[in-house]
Amino acid sequence: MPGNSHTRNFDRCIAAIIVGLYMYRTTLIESKALRVDTERRVAIVTGASSGIGKATARRLVDLGWKVIGTGRDPQRSADTATEIAALGDFTMLQADFTSMSQVARLAEEIRSCTSRLDVLIHNAGGVRDRKIVTEEGTEATFAANLLAPFLLTHELLPLLTVDPTASSRVIAVSSSAHRIANGIDWNDPQSLDRFNTALAYGRAKLAIILFIRELARRGAASGIVAHSMHPGTVSTNFAAHGDTGMREYMASADTVPPEEPADTLVWLATSPEGGRGSGRYFHRRAEEEIPSDEARDDDAARLLWQFSSRLLCGLGRSLSEL
Ligand SMILES: NC(=O)c1ccc[n+]([C@@H]2O[C@H](COP(=O)([O-])OP(=O)(O)OC[C@H]3O[C@@H](n4cnc5c(N)ncnc54)[C@H](OP(=O)(O)O)[C@@H]3O)[C@@H](O)[C@H]2O)c1
Repeated sequence: MPGNSHTRNFDRCIAAIIVGLYMYRTTLIESKALRVDTERRVAIVTGASSGIGKATARRLVDLGWKVIGTGRDPQRSADTATEIAALGDFTMLQADFTSMSQVARLAEEIRSCTSRLDVLIHNAGGVRDRKIVTEEGTEATFAANLLAPFLLTHELLPLLTVDPTASSRVIAVSSSAHRIANGIDWNDPQSLDRFNTALAYGRAKLAIILFIRELARRGAASGIVAHSMHPGTVSTNFAAHGDTGMREYMASADTVPPEEPADTLVWLATSPEGGRGSGRYFHRRAEEEIPSDEARDDDAARLLWQFSSRLLCGLGRSLSEL
């Protein structure tokens, strides 16, 4: 029947348009994710003077990326600069992440090294052996593990969003230790009043997951993809900064070499999968671990963003809007 054949042709036509649109959309997503691999390759790796960050920076440089690493200890930073710069395009900068004025100065130095940034890896941080209140009045664990990445991300937003047709990636090294924090204590978010080394560390690692979650939501329109990850129990210099309990625990723990989490970080930085979705939490190249309920609390993520912004504004930092 002519009517039936007309209907069939119309249906075929609609089906072809739908398939065409789907393929066009898929190609767009793939090409946006793949651009990072093929055309644009500038990364910051914080905490590159040791352990996981150093192994990650080395891998990215081996892959031909331009990498800017940061360190705190002058000798470790100098040694790393010599070692990795011999392999390719590597610059080492120094700043103590417990000081927001040093983080702001570091951002200025980064802006003078590059006009574009494809990947920002927030790896610097760790546990402390005691409560340390900084000159700026912040608690050192919270400052290094959360406030510094928060401020550095804001300071580098213009570099991360320079090309509106491409996406950039922000990846944070958190820890399964975030599970020991029973949520953020809104009466004392920094653990300034009641301090316990392990709990303060767990809270700071919970806070960085929440920051990444909120960054993923706010940054989506600007092409920012953000993920966090747990590196495992890793044989690094980590325990040297902790108390006796932490040193004993790490000495007897089954550990993996820093190259293992570095492999996941590099994969998140370079693979199409690392560009898909946002606000995800990885371990060993997979989402096999689900972060705690507290780490998936969007209200807490919003509140923490506001708290961190207010705190940094109080310290004289003006933050770009996202
Ligand atoms: N090792 C583990 O089992 C484990 C488990 C879960 C999560 N993590 C996380 O993994 C990340 C990397 O740690 P890692 O295990 O590789 O330990 P690491 O060998 O001690 O390396 C830590 C890096 O961060 C830098 N850093 C630490 N505090 C800093 C501060 N206040 N200001 C500036 N830089 C600072 C260190 O600089 P300097 O060396 O120059 O001082 C070093 O480059 C940390 O965020 C840590 O919390 C580690």
